[in-house]
Amino acid sequence: MIDQAKTILVTGADGFIGSHLTEMLLGLGYKVRALAQYNSFNSWGWLEGIKHPGLEVVCGDVRDPDFCREITAGCGTVFHLAALIAIPYSYVAPDSYVDTNIKGTMNMCQAARFAGVDRIVVTSTSEVYGTAIEVPIPETHPRQPQSPYSATKIGADAIAESFYNAFELPLVIARPFNTYGPRQSARAIIPTIICQIASGMRTIKVGDLTPTRDFNYVTDTCRGFIALAQAEGIEGKNINIASGTEISMGDTLRMIADIMGGDVEYVVDPERLRPAKSEVRRLCGDNRLITTLTDWRPQVTLREGLERTVEWLSKPANLARYKAEIYNR
Ligand SMILES: NC(=O)c1ccc[n+]([C@@H]2O[C@H](COP(=O)([O-])OP(=O)(O)OC[C@H]3O[C@@H](n4cnc5c(N)ncnc54)[C@H](O)[C@@H]3O)[C@@H](O)[C@H]2O)c1
Repeated sequence: MIDQAKTILVTGADGFIGSHLTEMLLGLGYKVRALAQYNSFNSWGWLEGIKHPGLEVVCGDVRDPDFCREITAGCGTVFHLAALIAIPYSYVAPDSYVDTNIKGTMNMCQAARFAGVDRIVVTSTSEVYGTAIEVPIPETHPRQPQSPYSATKIGADAIAESFYNAFELPLVIARPFNTYGPRQSARAIIPTIICQIASGMRTIKVGDLTPTRDFNYVTDTCRGFIALAQAEGIEGKNINIASGTEISMGDTLRMIADIMGGDVEYVVDPERLRPAKSEVRRLCGDNRLITTLTDWRPQVTLREGLERTVEWLSKPANLARYKAEIYNR
């Protein structure tokens, strides 16, 4: 289904998942146009240092519709990952989340429609489900906007679905559950714990340790994206990318401490606690749809994925890019 002769566009390619997806696609022999958000430092984020003859980096902004049309022209497959994703920051700047996540997704759907792409994979999130009412969470689970971030992703999904219904835009909505691995931003629980321990701190600052999550190693998530771009006849569907397992934040912390051999204590930092109704207490995804429609299966166990993430974050050059001592929202 992915046409090898045509360029693949990845938005959000400068970010955590997008940079791994870009590398994976290049490794499979595809030509990739990778969008990094424009900034005056000319920083390409996590694309810095990725050198490949099949890689074309473009800088710009998904909030600009003309720019979106320009970069999508001539592409066969589009992976739209660009988004504002931090939940705490969405409490203080919800307007920018509406612009980037909803308007940005609409711009990319319009651009894909006018370019006549073969497929656009739009990135949703397990956060749209809110605290699980039913476990494992199927794609039919109600949407519960417990944060402005989640609300804007629900809005983005709705815009995308409307383009499928109204214009038969060949799209698939990929819904990853929590993804972790090298390069993840420090706002997330796993890198925040690892970089505090790796920096020599013995009292780790954390938020609520009781919620559970369905953690997926980043290469599993990226293989899920590619499977959803390749499978025939799945247009218009919302599809979970989930391991189908769950673990509490507390048990995740204990596993990381065990891997790092650290004798650590933790303290709950009130700044990291979310408003009670906003905290998503339980996430565990049903992966039967993706495993029925594609040959995707999760390959990396949590322990193995955490070991790889610890190894990467423990390298001084990588750790230096994080600010362990502060709360990164
Ligand atoms: N990390 C997770 O656990 C997770 C889980 C489910 C879904 N997702 C989704 O996956 C996607 C990628 O998330 P990530 O974890 O890699 O986050 P990330 O923040 O590392 O990557 C997002 C990228 O989007 C870019 N971006 C933001 N605003 C932009 C704009 N206006 N124009 C162009 N680019 C812009 C940023 O530069 C950033 O690099 C997002 O859509 C997110 O909602 C992530």
